[in-house]
Amino acid sequence: MEKHISVLKEEAIASLHIKEDGIYVDMTLGYAGHSQEILKRNKKGFLFAFDKDETACNESSKKLSMISSNFKIFHTGNIHMKETLENEGIKEVDGFLYDLGVSSALIDEKDRGFSYMQDARLDMRMNQDDKLTAYEIINNYKENELIKIFRLYGEEKHAGRIARNIIIAREKKPITTTLELVDIIDKSIPYKDKKSSHPAKKVFQALRIEVNHELEEFQNSLEDALSMLKIDGRIAVITFHSLEDRICKTIFKEVTEVDPVIKGLPNIDPSLLPDFELITKKPILPTQMEILNNSRSKSAKLRVIKRIK
Ligand SMILES: C[S@@+](CC[C@H](N)C(=O)[O-])C[C@H]1O[C@@H](n2cnc3c(N)ncnc32)[C@H](O)[C@@H]1O
Repeated sequence: MEKHISVLKEEAIASLHIKEDGIYVDMTLGYAGHSQEILKRNKKGFLFAFDKDETACNESSKKLSMISSNFKIFHTGNIHMKETLENEGIKEVDGFLYDLGVSSALIDEKDRGFSYMQDARLDMRMNQDDKLTAYEIINNYKENELIKIFRLYGEEKHAGRIARNIIIAREKKPITTTLELVDIIDKSIPYKDKKSSHPAKKVFQALRIEVNHELEEFQNSLEDALSMLKIDGRIAVITFHSLEDRICKTIFKEVTEVDPVIKGLPNIDPSLLPDFELITKKPILPTQMEILNNSRSKSAKLRVIKRIK
């Protein structure tokens, strides 16, 4: 039985202003916590949903079928959203939802290798049909490539020492499991820097992002979503770390701000004004109560945008 608790559920659903007859897309279906709420409110419309994780797709299909049949799930990356919906004859959408990252169920699934707390083969693929695994990265990437991803995607300040120790260890024998890697990371980080969080947290985040191309797929699919959004349609994005949030914030800023060249001019041609309005000037954060009930929600931020023309 999966144990995923949806984050910022009420806030995200309220922010989408769901229409009874609208077309909605859940870009990160997971265990359908948000999708069930969308489907309940969208009685005459349709819901499309994407997830790379096959188990999540199957479980969610059962849950959504109990509400209505007006949905279709695609077991694929949301990077394929635009072409997939065009094949379904859909060019415009009333609302998109992103709830980024992995589900708690996936982290707890021992064999998938997402957790630094339990031993498993180094894997971390959300989609088990994909080729690249954490094992490939740890055992085959060059030292400078390892340093780059640990720094860029993990913001790990000991990236150099960790990468060096990985190279030394793998010269003796391949590094095959999560706990072997945790041990190497643990020995590379000075004691004073281990106090605030688990020593392997940042490297594991970096590996997960690299294995699943998380940041580039988020950025590209968000741009596609913006291009397909109807007037009055909304996009709600829940992020869990600063790298995802920065992408969301930057794109939302770019498409909602007046071009600085014309800003302040007296009579601006309406066609030159932005097509989108930022609904959340500041991100919506979980309440203290939500954080107490679900510690995973602690770092969540919800940002919402609306098409105005
Ligand atoms: C945090 S969970 C979503 C939970 C869901 N909102 C709920 O309430 O049950 C994120 C899900 O998105 C999926 N995912 C992450 N990135 C994806 C991508 N680029 N394409 C498709 N699915 C993705 C993961 O496999 C995971 O199941």
